[in-house]
Amino acid sequence: MPTPRVIEVSVPASSANLGPGFDSLGLALGFRDVVRVEVADRLEITVEGSGSGDVALDETHLVHRALAATFEQLGRPVPPVRLSCRNRIPHGRGLGSSSAAIVAGIVAARALVPGGSLVLDDRAALDLAGRLEGHADNVAPALLGGFTVAYETADGYHATQLAVDPRIRVVVLVPAEAVKTTAARALLPAQVPHRDAARNAGRAALLVAALTGRPELLMDATEDALHQDYRRPAMPGTCDLVTRLRAQGVPAVISGAGPSVLAFVGERDVEQVAALAPVGWEPLALAVDLDGAQVC
Ligand code: HSE
Repeated sequence: MPTPRVIEVSVPASSANLGPGFDSLGLALGFRDVVRVEVADRLEITVEGSGSGDVALDETHLVHRALAATFEQLGRPVPPVRLSCRNRIPHGRGLGSSSAAIVAGIVAARALVPGGSLVLDDRAALDLAGRLEGHADNVAPALLGGFTVAYETADGYHATQLAVDPRIRVVVLVPAEAVKTTAARALLPAQVPHRDAARNAGRAALLVAALTGRPELLMDATEDALHQDYRRPAMPGTCDLVTRLRAQGVPAVISGAGPSVLAFVGERDVEQVAALAPVGWEPLALAVDLDGAQVC
């Protein structure tokens, strides 16, 4: 089998947690980053769109780190590459930009190695992506598409994909300012009351039912007691918007670690929810992405 020298991959945005499914539930969203990787004489990285001018253009670039980790896992030397990133997923907004970068690097690297997808199948790719990210709730939908439940065992990270109800649509409301995931995670307490943990377990189970066929349950199913309120100091405007939308009957949650807001619109008028975006926030009406990472 000849070794390909150029690969282009595209990876969808994603929203994690979805309310009560902290570090577990995730949904792939209908817009994508595209990464072209060409084996070259020396490392060269260009970035267009989100992150351009901000991200490092050297070995520490996240796509390159994931690419290098994959070659190492496949027992191959890391070749010098020309990486061209066309980014649409905004950075630092809770829409899975770092997971998309990690999945792009892994999927591109395994496609550049003959037989790479056999050695590093999706299960192994997910585990590697989860280890690079530190949790798997965004990398699972980025890799597999659709609605995913990610979990960790002694063997590493796993995920299962569930058939999402075709009536589910979302509006994401994106603020101008970013919040670092590390800062949003630092606000979480080491311990939570047992009643909150029990409540969230029930709501997360209900959310699986809601997204796979019972969207009328979404309002109750998106209640969270484990992370959203704790994050208020880093994103008061986000928490206020979630409260306002929910008071109007819209099942809204913090998208991932924030600060974007994810609203499930179902049969509702997408335009009506998008119109509730505060000044300076960008509303994105999105379908659920069912394809996951693709080699173009
Ligand atoms: N589950 C993660 C969090 C998602 O809420 O911190 C962000 O990567």
